[in-house]
Amino acid sequence: MKKNVSARNALEFPKGFLWGSATASYQVEGGIENVDWAEAGRKKKVPITGKACDHYNLYEKDFDIAKSLSQNTHRFSIEWARIEPEEGKFDDREIEHYRKVLHVLKARGLEPFVTLWHFTLPIWFRDKGGFENKKAPEIFGRYCAYVAEKLGSEAKFWMTMNEPMVWLGNGYLRGGWPPFKRDILKYWKALKILMKSHRFAYIEMKKKNPSIQIGIAKQNMDFGSGGGWWNDVRANFSRKFWNHKFLKGIRECQDFIGVNYYRHIAFGKLENLPRTDMGWTIYPDGLRNVLLELKEYKKPLYITENGIADANDSQRGKFIKDHLVAVHQAIQGGADVRGFFYWSLLDNYEWAEGFTKRFGLVKINYDTMERTIRPSALLYKKICEMNSIS
Ligand code: BGC
Repeated sequence: MKKNVSARNALEFPKGFLWGSATASYQVEGGIENVDWAEAGRKKKVPITGKACDHYNLYEKDFDIAKSLSQNTHRFSIEWARIEPEEGKFDDREIEHYRKVLHVLKARGLEPFVTLWHFTLPIWFRDKGGFENKKAPEIFGRYCAYVAEKLGSEAKFWMTMNEPMVWLGNGYLRGGWPPFKRDILKYWKALKILMKSHRFAYIEMKKKNPSIQIGIAKQNMDFGSGGGWWNDVRANFSRKFWNHKFLKGIRECQDFIGVNYYRHIAFGKLENLPRTDMGWTIYPDGLRNVLLELKEYKKPLYITENGIADANDSQRGKFIKDHLVAVHQAIQGGADVRGFFYWSLLDNYEWAEGFTKRFGLVKINYDTMERTIRPSALLYKKICEMNSIS
């Protein structure tokens, strides 16, 4: 009897749905010194990453854990500065490293999703002006095409870049991340060049390997209004600019959309919502709204990040479940969602916050590098196994 009741209440996900978690090279690998963030760390402008989770050496162990958690996909990033440590000089030992990473993933039944640039710039590229340089599309495109040529046959899903709007906002308006600027003109210039860089990389990668699927990971927010024309204007403008400007700028050059969801902002409304350790409000319905909003692009959607900083793991299980209910509602509403990646598999370097914030399904002891699976990871495992939420 009980069984029937729970079966009736189960929210089933589409067959073949991908269940996984994500990481990014600079946040977990350790030993990356030739990038702008590492330099900023040495100058004490941001925390240093050092050995991070030593994932560069321990990836097999970490993917064993992902497999033991019944995941069937994994998102990670390749560090540009490892592959191209000097302009135009490529290091094939690093290509082989990432080839092994891809083999180890696939041997464990984990479908790889690969990001080519996740926030950190090689120092040589930064010195040339980074994404303010008009030649950046060719430079970035050359790196992306090189990787597609060498590793394109090893993975189907590729993302040229992660959260360009977040990177621009923090680096060019708020000035808290490299390149530490507060300059709206440069912000605008870099935004245009980033869109062009993606389009250029897309075309060059396809030339090397036409069968790969290419997109970006785009952080979108749920913008609400407390009512009144001014709040409506603010919400509409934010939605148009933050959520859609970039995606529309690369519209013809994306095979899927990677969606990162963390934030809900309600203009002119005081909300008494629970908060994460980052101080961000928890609002699962926002994920449904963000997904439904993307239906107009008529592309497959993958939630490439959604997660919570929650050091004592008291909110994570409920957070995951509630957000997945919202994903299910979006699918019922016609959004073509095909996968979900929890951020993150491991606790890691949370950029300007250093190692203080803990997003992981797996807890890291940074002294011993010991990995401990958190209880919420086991709840997520059940969902991955059943392909449904009971
Ligand atoms: C980024 C990750 C970051 C996470 C949590 C996203 O903005 O892609 O690198 O750790 O959010 O802040």
